[in-house]
Amino acid sequence: MNAFAPNPLRQGLVEDRLPEPCTVVIFGASGDLTKRKLVPALYSLMAERLLPPSFAVVGYARKEVSDVAFRGEMKEWCGKHARHKQTEELWSQFEKGIYFHTGDYDTPEDYQALKGRLDQIDKERGIPGNRVFYVSTPPSTFPIVVKQLSDNGLINKTGTGPFTRVIIEKPFGTDLQSARDLNAHCLKHLAEDQIYRIDHYLGKETVQNLMVFRFANAFFEPLWNNRYVDHVQITGAEALGIEGRGGYFDHAGILRDMVQNHLFQVMALTAMEPPVSLNATDLRDEKVKVLKALRPIPEGRFDEFVVRGQYRAGSVAGRPIPSYQEEVGVTAGSTTETYVALKMFIDNWRWAGVPFYLRSAKAMPKKVTEVALVFKDAPHRLFGEKSSNEPNVLAIRIQPDEGISMRFGSKVPGNTLDINPVNMEFRYGTSFGTEPPEAYERLQLDCMLGDQALYTRADEVEASWKYISRIHDEWKRSFARGIPTYEAGSWGPDESDAMLRRSNQAWRRL
Ligand SMILES: NC(=O)c1ccc[n+]([C@@H]2O[C@H](COP(=O)([O-])OP(=O)(O)OC[C@H]3O[C@@H](n4cnc5c(N)ncnc54)[C@H](OP(=O)(O)O)[C@@H]3O)[C@@H](O)[C@H]2O)c1
Repeated sequence: MNAFAPNPLRQGLVEDRLPEPCTVVIFGASGDLTKRKLVPALYSLMAERLLPPSFAVVGYARKEVSDVAFRGEMKEWCGKHARHKQTEELWSQFEKGIYFHTGDYDTPEDYQALKGRLDQIDKERGIPGNRVFYVSTPPSTFPIVVKQLSDNGLINKTGTGPFTRVIIEKPFGTDLQSARDLNAHCLKHLAEDQIYRIDHYLGKETVQNLMVFRFANAFFEPLWNNRYVDHVQITGAEALGIEGRGGYFDHAGILRDMVQNHLFQVMALTAMEPPVSLNATDLRDEKVKVLKALRPIPEGRFDEFVVRGQYRAGSVAGRPIPSYQEEVGVTAGSTTETYVALKMFIDNWRWAGVPFYLRSAKAMPKKVTEVALVFKDAPHRLFGEKSSNEPNVLAIRIQPDEGISMRFGSKVPGNTLDINPVNMEFRYGTSFGTEPPEAYERLQLDCMLGDQALYTRADEVEASWKYISRIHDEWKRSFARGIPTYEAGSWGPDESDAMLRRSNQAWRRL
């Protein structure tokens, strides 16, 4: 029997269902994310007929904007950024449900006014009070918005009747303690099943395909363990420097910005056991088990497991990149890492002894995010010296050029027995001939549907911060040692290559 539905790209992980009529309220609607991602994603959902027939989106921010002006602005941004082409017919249908509400984030009267406005929109558009509040402000404002929503009667805490769900943007905390505090704060005002902590990587098609690939096929999973896998490499590389985001990045660093959330999620999906079902509890239970099984970095051996670096001046694809220290917003003498590589072990039955190497960096030779399983050698070298020295690799490319490739040895045509590595490729673009949806489409749709499977849970966020915070603590202690540097446009500091070399392993050349 064919286990595949006709078009896995469209089908996704939940059955096609239409959300109940609802309003999405975006806090911080004057920001970049709203324009570039959130509203264009909602427009595309409407173009795919996945929005409920009665729907509204309300932008909330301090700036004074009329509904008409906000609609005009969103029309322009959706024209530029929505996956679906704008047509006058679709747009006029969509814009009727767009509103803007001016208000402060910490003023109860403004939330009371918002409440009145939402009740009125409900009446106008036939919405039964269902609401998604999307908190897309800077993180310092997250707890303020949650408290004000709660104090001003905008959250239905009864567990029956219209739904209230709150999406919280990243970063969810900056260390273990702040993540715990934010969880405790949110859980004081909301039930866990009303909290949607977003990690947009989980909305990416290829990240979801990791699960389809592993669990809808028969022949990968038997190899997916320490018997056959030598090690795993997960790379999240950016070709750009920090591009004017120095003020933010210098406080965060790449470990917080990329690894704690995105790469740890990818690692958890790669390493987890098959969940009992795809429901949010079962799926997240399995991811949490992986995070809990991470072996703590052994005392006194930190440098064997963690490497960091900061870029010097260099160039990427012929474009000069200034040194990190010269970027606007970076504190003089900053030791913030723009490169990090980790060697990790997952102490469980499946992965005992298999290193998971994670690396993420700015100013790399190219932009690429991938997971690669590097296999052990065949048990016997029948072809002796003629055998290829390259291991078999299964690489899942998350972005760009989403797809999967297998690398294995093949006989070189001719009368001698020479073996060379070759690649077998699957590419989304060519196989399905359609562009995958934007992560924010899938994630906003899931929230409207009440499906939390692709959102992170409180214990999951805390488990990943627990590991990451130990690294930050060690860096604080060893501040005086400074930070290794690497040339912008290179693959990172020599210390990172040395970390793998000690185990006779090497980073893939991407
Ligand atoms: N942009 C991205 O690609 C991206 C990617 C992943 C995650 N995120 C996260 O998504 C959230 C929104 O991103 P964004 O780029 O849209 O953020 P942003 O432009 O910095 O902020 C969005 C809006 O929040 C309001 N705001 C509320 N409190 C503020 C404060 N204390 N300081 C400054 N502005 C404040 C501002 O609107 P008013 O002053 O008009 O009220 C601002 O326009 C952030 O938490 C960010 O970390 C963004």
